[in-house]
Amino acid sequence: MCLARLEQHMSKQQLIIFDTTLRDGEQSPGASMTKDEKIRIARALEKMHVDVIEAGFPIASPGDFEAARAVAEIVKDSTICGLARALEQDIDRAGEAIKPANSGRIHTFIATSPVHMERKLRMMPDQVVEQAVWAVKHARRYTDNVEFSAEDAGRSEIDFLCRIFEAVIDAGATTINVPDTVGYNMPWQFGETIRTLIERIPNSDKAVFSVHCHNDLGLAVANSLSAVTNGARQVECTINGLGERAGNASLEEVVMAVRTRQDVYDCDTRLDTTQIVPCSRLVANITGFPVQPNKAVVGANAFAHESGIHQDGVLKHRETYEIMRAEDVGWSHNRMVLGKHSGRNAFRTRLEELGIHIDSETELNEAFARFKELADKKHEIFDEDLQALVTDKGLEKTNERIKLIALHVCSETGEIPGADVTLGIDGEERSISAEGSGPVDATYRAIEALVESGADLKLYSVNNITSGTDSQGEVTVRLELGGRLVNGQGADTDIVIASAKAYINGCNKLLDVEDRAHPQKGDV
Ligand code: KIV
Ligand code: ZN
Repeated sequence: MCLARLEQHMSKQQLIIFDTTLRDGEQSPGASMTKDEKIRIARALEKMHVDVIEAGFPIASPGDFEAARAVAEIVKDSTICGLARALEQDIDRAGEAIKPANSGRIHTFIATSPVHMERKLRMMPDQVVEQAVWAVKHARRYTDNVEFSAEDAGRSEIDFLCRIFEAVIDAGATTINVPDTVGYNMPWQFGETIRTLIERIPNSDKAVFSVHCHNDLGLAVANSLSAVTNGARQVECTINGLGERAGNASLEEVVMAVRTRQDVYDCDTRLDTTQIVPCSRLVANITGFPVQPNKAVVGANAFAHESGIHQDGVLKHRETYEIMRAEDVGWSHNRMVLGKHSGRNAFRTRLEELGIHIDSETELNEAFARFKELADKKHEIFDEDLQALVTDKGLEKTNERIKLIALHVCSETGEIPGADVTLGIDGEERSISAEGSGPVDATYRAIEALVESGADLKLYSVNNITSGTDSQGEVTVRLELGGRLVNGQGADTDIVIASAKAYINGCNKLLDVEDRAHPQKGDV
């Protein structure tokens, strides 16, 4: 960094990045994550220097509580936040969950728009203010870092927002969050709201103003940035823009907009942006929500130039068509990272660089053995292969009650496809044959005949992890059973085997995952 840039950087205010991938992101239908998956994402966020990680909604289920608490135990360099409605039992549970954190925050919320207060809460505005003040005071018994959100602030009356925010700041709230819960606002309007709040609330200087924008009209990032221009100093966002319905503001877009346009913003984040692409891939792998190729910053085409004129321009002078450097957001030019002759240390180092920690030597040895097996089948191993390798099996701590032991499929022109499957189920080996409309269908029928999960297959998708016919296929399935959705993943150079692994992974999660509830489902 040149001296002028360094001085400019030091004189800027900090824009706090609050990531809610593990909470609001998890509210994307089908994106529920296991505790171990949440820990892996939290570590990647910490490595990226995210300031605040919202680790979950601890009252929602024992699983949510355990995951948030585990993140609070493991992550040391980011503040760990737990969400709570403005209710005693929610706040107590969130307080318990964040207890082990070096720095913990409770985020409590209550709705403030006329429609939410009248129709959902059935409370009078005075009661809502009283409840909010009580909640903030109660949360302060656990931590002095308390955030208050006015749910549906985007459709709330400005006078009422001023009143409730002034009261909760007096009660001890240190962050005031203004959510556009239903993604209704226009950027200039939302910016104006933030400016008015900061100007009109007498004690606004005692709190950081934050925004939390949903993307129903595709404006979440624009609204967040407009708020930053008007004084917001925290943005709540998610990796890849995951989140309830159309999602939240995407972290990578907000962060890169502010970083790239330092000429128009008087603040900057402390994020290590080179971690953005690895983190995006990790979240896509874990949730099974692929990133669209033309997605800003993290899409496969974000830095690809197709037209001859553009290619020529970039070759002559990169800045003709590029406003950011691919390597600054973590795209590596030399993507071939390891091969069959690579050693254990190189393997471990590359995993660490990708934000993947392997704690025990046994796990490292197992992962390394799988890497060698893969390197025998496929000469060039890319970052994406390594990520799939560990997502596929190695670090996945889902109790594996069902294991794939053997699979033989028959796929021949003019013949009915068939599959012979042998599984280990709770330690007992069982085999069966089945026919289907294709080899994957036959395999799934066979597995289901053995497992009898009764789950509905809601999604089946195959992606090649890298390019070429020797690439690994990565299969994602989404299974539903009794209203519960889980994603299963599997990767292999043979896509039928990858498919079998994905289905079995999903079944194991169904046996393992506990019930979850969405925060906005509650009465208050
Ligand atoms: O969208 C929303 O209003 C929320 C709150 C809980 C902050 O997610
Ligand atoms: Zn939200």
